[in-house]
Amino acid sequence: MIRKLGILTSGGDSPGMNAAIRAVTRCALGNGIEVVGIKDGYKGLINADFVPFNKGSVSEILSRGGTILGSARLPEFKEPAVVDKACEILRENEIDALVVIGGDGSYRGAKALTDRGINCIGLPGTIDNDITGTDETIGFDTALQTVVEAVDKLRDTSSSHHRCSVVEVMGNHCGDLAVYSGIACGAEIVVTPETGYDEEDILERLRYLDNLGKNHAIVIISEKICDVEGLARKISATTGFSGRSTVLGHIQRGGSPSPKDRVLASRMGEKAVDLLVSGVGGHCVGIMNNEIISLPINEALSMPKTSRKALYRLFDRLV
Ligand code: F6P
Repeated sequence: MIRKLGILTSGGDSPGMNAAIRAVTRCALGNGIEVVGIKDGYKGLINADFVPFNKGSVSEILSRGGTILGSARLPEFKEPAVVDKACEILRENEIDALVVIGGDGSYRGAKALTDRGINCIGLPGTIDNDITGTDETIGFDTALQTVVEAVDKLRDTSSSHHRCSVVEVMGNHCGDLAVYSGIACGAEIVVTPETGYDEEDILERLRYLDNLGKNHAIVIISEKICDVEGLARKISATTGFSGRSTVLGHIQRGGSPSPKDRVLASRMGEKAVDLLVSGVGGHCVGIMNNEIISLPINEALSMPKTSRKALYRLFDRLV
């Protein structure tokens, strides 16, 4: 039986993490379980930076972006001695179980703790949508909305100046933000880790569009692929468009979560508590075909990523 549950958010923050914190807190309190918020991810855990939570602690956070708990990346949490220390601290503070909201690195930490006897559940919180074992992560929908709003604005100004906007979006090796926004914004070109980068092909396609009489063009590129400023300069030098680059950056991580993210986070938070109450640990929660499910963390992490071939094919058919 669980008496005290800890919650932490880890890795890059995402809109909807607060909604998940609220759902976990309220569902746990409703089950008679004490709740403790852990500040700044695993870093706060090993420093015993804990805040007791009551129902009011999570009031008025549902619509707020970011995470009230703070988040951090702690690569050292891979080291067995650090995990042992975390277990010791959890035991000293009589925390029986943990909900970890974050990406796959955070899941690995949750699995390591479960293996040492502290039941943990992982919730997928990241704008990248790069976690296997779920169709969608908490924060992806809001980040996508942010990208779409920005690209729509860039299109307005690009079309006034016969420009090509090169827009870099986040995703950390996952092209979902780029391909979804490419479809939603009617971009001319999308470049992601999945499509690969062929600079000459991009320039050739832009020359072709210019010759067709197109007034503007949008190229959406996933981060970590190329220097978008350099590409924009080459576009100005070698095509009829004048190139401009925009790196959307951390704007994509902020903002009030969309209703879809709020509901997703709340459903996942509820599931995390139900799993822990029924004695399950070492699982991560996901959504598949609109059903909230859970899987052992190891199984989820070793699953292949769902193919996005159909989305890329659709993008190509719409250009
Ligand atoms: O994982 C979320 C994410 O925003 C990625 O898209 C990006 O690559 C990374 O985090 C940025 O990390 P940081 O906020 O540490 O610069």
